[in-house]
Amino acid sequence: METSRSIIATSALPYANGVIHLGHLVEYLQTDYWVRFQKMRGHECLYICADDTHGTPIMIRARKEGITPEQLIARSQEEHLKDFKEFQIQFDEYSSTNSEQNKALSEKIFLKMEGEGNIEPRTIEQNYCEHDKMFLPDRFVIGTCPNCGAEDQYGDSCDNCSATYSPTDMKSSRCAVCGNPPIKKGSEHLFFKLENFRSFLSEWVPKHTQSEVSNKLQEWLDQELRDWDISRDAPYFGFEIPGHPGKYFYVWVDAPVGYMSTTQKWCARNDRDFDSFWNGDNTEIYHFIGKDIVYFHALFWPAMLKNAGYKTPSQIFVHGFLTVNGEKMSKSKGTFISARTYLDHLDPTYLRYYYACKIRGIEDLDLN
Ligand code: MSP
Ligand code: ZN
Repeated sequence: METSRSIIATSALPYANGVIHLGHLVEYLQTDYWVRFQKMRGHECLYICADDTHGTPIMIRARKEGITPEQLIARSQEEHLKDFKEFQIQFDEYSSTNSEQNKALSEKIFLKMEGEGNIEPRTIEQNYCEHDKMFLPDRFVIGTCPNCGAEDQYGDSCDNCSATYSPTDMKSSRCAVCGNPPIKKGSEHLFFKLENFRSFLSEWVPKHTQSEVSNKLQEWLDQELRDWDISRDAPYFGFEIPGHPGKYFYVWVDAPVGYMSTTQKWCARNDRDFDSFWNGDNTEIYHFIGKDIVYFHALFWPAMLKNAGYKTPSQIFVHGFLTVNGEKMSKSKGTFISARTYLDHLDPTYLRYYYACKIRGIEDLDLN
C-alpha cells in the first residue's frame, strides 16, 4: 500500500475584473478532475484557489463604474463562485488576495528577499498621465503600431501584425483612460535580482516542468536573467511595500502568495499549522496553469519561495489554450462564451465530459 500523501493543488487565480469564460474552465475543470482522483485514491488533497484582486485594471474599472475596488472585487468573487459551483468545481478553500493574511505573508517574503540582498532600487522612466496623475502600464497606452501602422493598438503589442514593442516606440500615443498624450517621468522602482537564482533555477526547471516548457525556459536560463520590477507607484490598488512608503507590490508578487495564504486559511479552519504543513516532508504542491503565465510560475515564484525558505512546487502542470472553431476566442467575432452564457443554455456535465476527453498536456484544445 502506498502511504498517504498530503497534496496541495492550485488553479491560477482568476482576475477579479473579468467573468469566468470557457477558456478558464479548461483549467478549473482539469484541476477539479485531478483533485477528485487523488481524493478517491485516499490521499489528502486540497483544491486551493482565490480571486486575484490587485492592479491597475481593477482600480480603473472600479473608478469607471463609480464603485470602490473593494466593492468590485466582492461582486466578482460572488459571481465567480456561483459559476464554479454550477460547474460542480469543488474547492477546499477559496479566498481573495486582498486579505490580511496575504498582506502579512507577502511582506514576510519580501523582507526575506530584501534581507538577503536580492532587492535593488533603481530609477526608471515611464509613461505618466498628467491628467490622471498616474503612471500608465503598457496596456493603458494606446497608439499607432510602429511596425504596420495599425491604429488604436496597445502599448506592448499589435493585434494586427503581432509585433511586440515598447510604448515609447509608438506613434501618437495617448492615455487609454483620458486620451491625453503621456509624458515621460522618472521614478524609483524596486527590482528583484532573478539572476542570483539562475543556477538554482537551471537545475529546478527541468525537474519540475514538462519538457516542452523546460526547453522553452532554457533559452532564458542560458543568458543572464533580467531583474524583475516588483514595485508600482501610487495610485495602485494593492499592498504598500514595508519600508518603502508610496510604493506598492506589483500584483504578480502578492498573487502567487495567494496560494499560500489560502492554504493558511484552510489550515486555520482545520487546526493545522501552516508552516509545518506547507513545508512538511509529505507535502506536495502542484500548480495548474495556462501557458501564458509560465514565466511567473516557473521562474519568479520558485525563486521567491526558495529565498524565503519555503518548499518550492513539486510540479507545474501547463495546459494549452481553448480555441473556438480553431481560432482564439474573441468578443468581436462573437465566439467569446462566458461560463454564465453556457449555463443559461446547456448542461455543465456535457462540458465537463468534453474537456476530460480532450485535454492533452500543453496542446491547445478546440471547441467546435
Ligand atoms: N490572475 C492571473 C493568474 C495569477 S496566479 C498567481 C491570471 N488570471 S486569468 O484570469 O487571466 O487566467 C487564469 C487562468 O486561466 C490562467 O492559467 C490562464 O492561462 C487560463 N486561461 C485564460 N484564458 C484561457 C484560454 N482561452 N484557454 C485556456 N486557459 C486560459 O492569469
Ligand atoms: Zn489619462
